[in-house]
Amino acid sequence: MYVCICHAVTDREIRACIDDGGGSMRDLRKQLGVGTQCGKCACHVRAILKEEKSAALLAHGSLSA
Ligand code: FES
Repeated sequence: MYVCICHAVTDREIRACIDDGGGSMRDLRKQLGVGTQCGKCACHVRAILKEEKSAALLAHGSLSA
């Protein structure tokens, strides 16, 4: 699904970028351009970033103790 209409960026591309080490909004802005034009996608991008970080924490068992 398209998250950033201005730059035609999908949630998959955002998740792939996070997996490749894009761990902050600054990284995602720089690499994909999200949030750099109208800014309407920023909230959704932040939500995806938070979701991915939580999933990574759970996958590594850090929250299971
Ligand atoms: S929708 Fe992402 S900058 Fe406009």
